[in-house]
Amino acid sequence: LNLKNNIPWWGKIIIKMILSKINVSYHLWKKLKLFQHGDMCKPDYAYSVFIKHFENSKFHRKSSGFVSMELGPGDSLYSALIAYCFGAKKSYLIDTGQYAIDDPTSYMKMVDYLVAKGFTVPNIDGVSILKNVLDVYNAKYETDGLASLKCIADNSVDFIWSQAVLEHIRRAEFREVIRETRRVLRDDGVCSHQIDLKDHLSFSLNNLRFSDETWESDLMANSGFYTNRLRYNEIIRIFEEEGFNVEINNINRWDKLPISKDHLNEKYAVMSDDELLISGFDVILSPK
Ligand SMILES: C[S@@+](CC[C@H](N)C(=O)[O-])C[C@H]1O[C@@H](n2cnc3c(N)ncnc32)[C@H](O)[C@@H]1O
Repeated sequence: LNLKNNIPWWGKIIIKMILSKINVSYHLWKKLKLFQHGDMCKPDYAYSVFIKHFENSKFHRKSSGFVSMELGPGDSLYSALIAYCFGAKKSYLIDTGQYAIDDPTSYMKMVDYLVAKGFTVPNIDGVSILKNVLDVYNAKYETDGLASLKCIADNSVDFIWSQAVLEHIRRAEFREVIRETRRVLRDDGVCSHQIDLKDHLSFSLNNLRFSDETWESDLMANSGFYTNRLRYNEIIRIFEEEGFNVEINNINRWDKLPISKDHLNEKYAVMSDDELLISGFDVILSPK
């Protein structure tokens, strides 16, 4: 019996809201497998995600020393090592908290994985703190979200990418984050984002049942299941208004709405089925 899969969406909201009020570090929740951002602690997953974004992206300095930025790395900073192997001379990893594993021996697992793939990777044997691991790969981990982005110089990054992150940016900050990515991106750079539009409760649209007022309250938004509920067309419009050309690589759709429109908040119930059926997409953004 898989308990997690048998808890209804509303039960997950209640449980997560209660647990988020208990003062326990993210690292302990992760150990207990109650909250976890993703699978970035697995070298093969981290590698496959990086490769997907990198292969989809064309940018001027791709083969000659580029600056890479991952938004929302989550549970590990493995992508800094991977980006180095693919020619990054510098990497930024920007999140909203220190969620990444900080034990250097985990990073040695990623080194071993890359060596087995035939890459020449700087040795980190004996390096005892994460900061020194990152220094070896000229990587910076910044954990103050939008404020961290604002500290990065204009026109200085070649390749910005994210995996299942943009839907988690607080709605009130979303446009400004996109504006900042445009500001830091070089005119010949590129962004690649994968965006998941399913609720983070039971892979459905239960998040659209609520009014903005309820959903955007700090209690809801800080309980580990928050998504900003921006739908496909609104996200694309913001990208365009903030100075990007948009190329859609892939769109995932449900065959039919996963819940009846009767259950949705009126703001979403009036949207077209075409809009609501989109459950995720991959997009490439280049400067206009
Ligand atoms: C679902 S996790 C995905 C983690 C990782 N990319 C993966 O694929 O496993 C979402 C991540 O986005 C981060 N995030 C949320 N808002 C952000 C923001 N404004 N800037 C940067 N990262 C953000 C979260 O802290 C979290 O690490």
